[in-house]
Amino acid sequence: MKVLVVGTGAREHALVTALAADPDVDAVIAAPGNPGMALRAHCEPVDPLDPDAVSGLARRHGVDLVVIGPEAPLVAGVADAVRAAGIACYGPSAQAARLEGSKAFAKEVMATAEVPTGMGRLCTTLDEVRDALAAFGAPFVVKDDGLAAGKGVVVTDDLTEALDHAERCLAKPGGRIVVEEFLDGPEVSLFVVCDGTDVVPLTPAQDFKRVGDGDTGPNTGGMGAYSPLPWAPDHLADDLVARVAQPVVTEMARRGTPFVGTLFIGLALTSRGPRVIEFNARFGDPETQVVLARLLSPLGHLLYAAATGALQGHPRLRWREESAVTVVVAAEDYPGTPRTGDPIEGLADVEEVPTAYVLHAGTANGPDGTVLSSGGRVLSVVALGADLAEARGRAYDAVGRIRLDGSHHRSDIAARAVRGEVEVPS
Ligand code: AMP
Ligand code: GLY
Repeated sequence: MKVLVVGTGAREHALVTALAADPDVDAVIAAPGNPGMALRAHCEPVDPLDPDAVSGLARRHGVDLVVIGPEAPLVAGVADAVRAAGIACYGPSAQAARLEGSKAFAKEVMATAEVPTGMGRLCTTLDEVRDALAAFGAPFVVKDDGLAAGKGVVVTDDLTEALDHAERCLAKPGGRIVVEEFLDGPEVSLFVVCDGTDVVPLTPAQDFKRVGDGDTGPNTGGMGAYSPLPWAPDHLADDLVARVAQPVVTEMARRGTPFVGTLFIGLALTSRGPRVIEFNARFGDPETQVVLARLLSPLGHLLYAAATGALQGHPRLRWREESAVTVVVAAEDYPGTPRTGDPIEGLADVEEVPTAYVLHAGTANGPDGTVLSSGGRVLSVVALGADLAEARGRAYDAVGRIRLDGSHHRSDIAARAVRGEVEVPS
């Protein structure tokens, strides 16, 4: 099988690596890819947001399966174009991707499918926002309704800050916001592979969205992740399939917009049980890096089955017992305007750390085989260990060998879990 992976980040590098390891996969193409992916895949400089360019590339190379990494190509209709060209595609249609693209739409589907989620109110005026904030009380949760790359949400005790954020979002053309009740309890990311009818859950992970240690500073795309979650209840994935993923997939099919791809359930484990915070229509970054590090079952086989409506009766997935941790190395000033163009050194030294490896995100080839930083999140460093403590120690050992001027990373990824400090409130 020949597979085309669309995207440029460390998530896509992880997908390429896992696909290339599947004995049924003979070749992987990445569009546009990055220098890390180029070691395992043939990279093609195609605009991932251009539906015709991506489907044309898939046809030219005679690929059997297209896997779409990020949300933007999905919303742009790349999956629709690929399917229209008669090629199997892992990734939802633009219609189905609205589960991620519109928080209001997601809330509506959750209500119909009776999925447990926080209470929320859709607002289009500042007066409505004031009312909703007063009704729910602090801490205030204010969300931009549209796509904002994980940066559209403000959670704050400060009413002025909540109102300022609402005002900024409402000022955009067609601006709408959702005000929500605050959900207390640790967050979980669960990816569920969907074929439009049937679903197969992956293993839960946790990510770290804020830029600074101790969950301080602005939100980012994600600064690190770990899996498994030693503090989570047993059977969490099966429970979430029964209460969330299957009802949503059934509802999307009933609406005539079947969901094919990854249903990413972002939830909080609150004292009143799991509550969905958001859906994404794709794999999460950096959670994918740790989830795929632990996957033993062949990924190409799984995603092809999902893309062709053949998940029913799929064998249960097999997972490594080991734990995985990833730490994101970010460029100076990320998540603001990151500094780029700096040489990255020490990449080869990572190989001296057992199990550790580097996935590329914002990198580019420089002169004479050097690798340069070219984006906000530059690298995702992954390691395995017999337990979380060992995986974490190795990941940080590896990060310490990498030199990139001005770069920063969180130093507390998985630290509270290792110390046994993460608890589901009772
Ligand atoms: P979202 O873009 O909806 O995933 O929100 C980004 C982050 O904001 C989440 O990962 C949470 O940390 C936080 N968040 C969102 N909604 C809530 C909520 N209702 N209660 C508490 N925290 C929230
Ligand atoms: N790590 C969260 C996301 O991919 O949105």
